[in-house]
Amino acid sequence: MAEENPNVSKHPLVLHKLTLLRREKTEPKKFRELIREISMLLCYEATQDLALAEINVRTPLAVATGYELKEKIGLVPILRAGLGMVNGIWEMLPGAEVWHIGLRRDERTLQPVEYYRKLPVDPTVQVCLVLDPMLATGGSAIAAVNILKKWGARRIKFLGVIGAPEGINALKEAHPDVQIYLAAVDEHLNEAGFIVPGLGDAGDRQFGTG
Ligand code: PRP
Repeated sequence: MAEENPNVSKHPLVLHKLTLLRREKTEPKKFRELIREISMLLCYEATQDLALAEINVRTPLAVATGYELKEKIGLVPILRAGLGMVNGIWEMLPGAEVWHIGLRRDERTLQPVEYYRKLPVDPTVQVCLVLDPMLATGGSAIAAVNILKKWGARRIKFLGVIGAPEGINALKEAHPDVQIYLAAVDEHLNEAGFIVPGLGDAGDRQFGTG
């Protein structure tokens, strides 16, 4: 059966942790821990279809059939807020490569402005996981996927914590092949481009700025 797009987690741990993340009183240290934990749970859901190769493994008693990941994975955090999603996922996928894309949203136009990009010359992986907690207008996610596709990435997935309907629709329209994984879909965007009810500014809340 085809996966729904977006895939919105129904896992009780995700829903519990997301509630703590939203809470205004949650301080940056706890906020960072929650982003990390939710990211690991989303990673579990987003990696269910990774290809495996069958291999033999010698146990202390006999030879057993085992499996190893066939595909190389790239983690692509969108700076800054996506940074907090890297470490937990990297623990689950220690062989992954990490590439950074720096995008900041112009406060007036809400358009993403690129200020940093660190990718190898040629793509070295089969699957890219784009990481950004907030999918608001979708401009940043679309720009990041554009960069990755132009560079040659084939399979791209987007992992975020909260999505607004506007951003989900825009990303799906621009890149229908990109599967989206979220912890929640919220109501709407306000005039300032913030997701409502959301959790505020995910970058500022992680890094103690703003
Ligand atoms: C925020 C957020 C996303 C982006 C989402 O980043 O972290 O990257 O906006 O908005 P969009 O879907 O409308 O593009 P911001 O520009 O505030 O930068 P920061 O992560 O450095 O705080």
